[in-house]
Formats: sequence, structure tokens, C-alpha cells
Amino acid sequence: MTDLKKPIKKAVFPVAGLGTRFLPATKVLPKEMLPLVDRPLIQRAVEEAQEAGIEEFIFVSGRGKSLITEHFEIQPELDDLLREKGKLDLLERVSHSDIPSGKVQICMQQRALGLGHAVSCARSLVGDEPFAVFLVDVMTLGEMGCMAQMIKVYNETGGNVIASSPVPRDLTYKYGILDVENEGDDVSAIRGMVEKPDPSDAPSNLHIIGRYILQPEIFDILDRREKGAGGEIQLTDAMVSLMQDQPFTSVKLKGETYDCGHHLGFIEANIAFALADPQFGRETQEILKKYINKENLNAAA
Ligand code: UTP
Repeated sequence: MTDLKKPIKKAVFPVAGLGTRFLPATKVLPKEMLPLVDRPLIQRAVEEAQEAGIEEFIFVSGRGKSLITEHFEIQPELDDLLREKGKLDLLERVSHSDIPSGKVQICMQQRALGLGHAVSCARSLVGDEPFAVFLVDVMTLGEMGCMAQMIKVYNETGGNVIASSPVPRDLTYKYGILDVENEGDDVSAIRGMVEKPDPSDAPSNLHIIGRYILQPEIFDILDRREKGAGGEIQLTDAMVSLMQDQPFTSVKLKGETYDCGHHLGFIEANIAFALADPQFGRETQEILKKYINKENLNAAA
């Protein structure tokens, strides 16, 4: 009998996507390197994983994405310079997400064949243990990080865990939607999931937000390389298949979620994160007040 409650030590970050929705910004710069206030999306995702107690970080990378892993290289010259100049607060910010030697691994997804394919590329690095998956273009803001909330539940339930958050009913056609046993509960067993259902067919209004805890048996299914929507190897299809043999649990995020994969979502995330930042919050409020002034709004329109 498989143990479905082994501790989660590894996180997979699929960062090999093309980021077409964010062109032209992402023509050269990987989407995952776009700064959310003061640090790139990928750093925020790694910090979320660290907060949840994850110790090993696996990047599924692609062509032109080397900046992402370079960002996690320690730069002794920069550290020395900041120390010499007495800029200790900056030094602290720079070293905040340092990853110890031997704890970063990189594998290549040679072609962007879909999220499911990207996850399958990490198989040999993950091995035979459960792991977390982070979609780096989704950021969440709450008292506790999304993955920490999920691991708390996983320690009770084991199995597979998916983070979810409610969306307005009329927008279900934009998201992966869960079919859960008790939609009102914060934690609920998942019965199924549907990609982008019409509001009238949606089994709930809980959308899948891009944080997963998965058992290693998902790799056997992904390795069948079955193509789904858009001709891509879809993670959702593989999860639906695994659901026949293993339990899946939905954890409703306590907090807000932001889709940083497109322009307006990214703009909103920057406003929200800046307002929540102890260093920038107050002044960001002042800036917003300036723009909320009707005259300025009209002038900008
Ligand atoms: P998205 O669905 O946002 O795709 O991927 P994308 O290619 O990055 O962006 P668009 O749709 O062209 O604008 C969600 C996450 O999965 C990764 C992406 O890098 C992103 O972090 N991904 C997606 C891969 O690593 N490989 C893939 O084949 C697809």
C-alpha cells in the first residue's frame, strides 16, 4: 500500500512557458522575472515554498530562461559592496531567498508542450515522493502563504491537494473549476474538475489557482503523453485520471489571488503588494489618491 502522507520536501517550478500574453515585455525577459514591487515573481514563489518548509527547488526551464536560475546565484562581490557601503537592509533583501548549495536543480523542457509535460520533465529529480508545484505567474497575498496553508491540510489528509479560490459565477469559463463535495467548506474532498466550463455547467465557483501537492503516481499518467485541450499535455487531465485511484482535497485559500500572466492582473498585483508592503504601503496610498482624483482620471483616459 502506497504511503500517501510522506512529507513534502521538494517543489517544482515550471518556468519554460512562452509568456505570449505578456508580449512584448516577455520577448527577451522571462515572465517569471517580472518584478512584483521589489522582487521577481520567481523569488516570491521560492520564498512561499521556503515558508512552507520546502527544502529542494526544481526549476523546469527552457530556452532563453537562464536569467531565472542566475537570479539564485549568490554574488559575493555584490554582498561585499553592500556591506562596505553599510546598506545592510538591502543586503538582507538580496539574501532573503538564498538557497543552500545542492538544493537547486534544473531540468530542461526542450519544447513548451504544456504544463503537464513540464511537470513530467522533473520526474527523475523528484523521484518517488510527493511534491509541490508552483505556477509562478499566480501570486497570492494572505497572512500565511498559500503553500503553507496547503501543507497544514496535507499533514492531516495526505493524498493530493489543490488550492482553490472562488470566482464570480459568470467568469467560470476562464478557469479550471473544481467539483467538490462541500462547496461551502474551506477543506473539501474533490470529485472532479472541468476546464473553463460555461457558468451554467460549472460544478462550483472554485477555481484552481496554480498551487498543487501531488503524489508521484502522477508521473506514470503524464508519461503517457496524451494530448488534451490546445494539443498540449495538460496537468488537469492527468489529475482527473489519478483521481480514480487517489484522494484529492481542495483547500480554499485564505487570502487573495492575482494572475500575473497578463497585463491587467499584473498591474493589480503590483498595486496590492505595494499597498501591503511595510516599506512602500503608505506612499503607494498617496500615489493612488492622486490618480483617483477625478480630474486626473479623466485626463488619463
Ligand atoms: P501559462 O499557461 O501561463 O503559459 O503557464 P505561458 O506559456 O507561460 O504563457 P502564455 O499563455 O503564452 O502567455 C503557466 C506556468 O507553466 C509554465 C509557464 O512558464 C508558467 O510559469 N509552463 C507552461 C511551462 O513551463 N511549460 C509549458 O509548456 C507551459
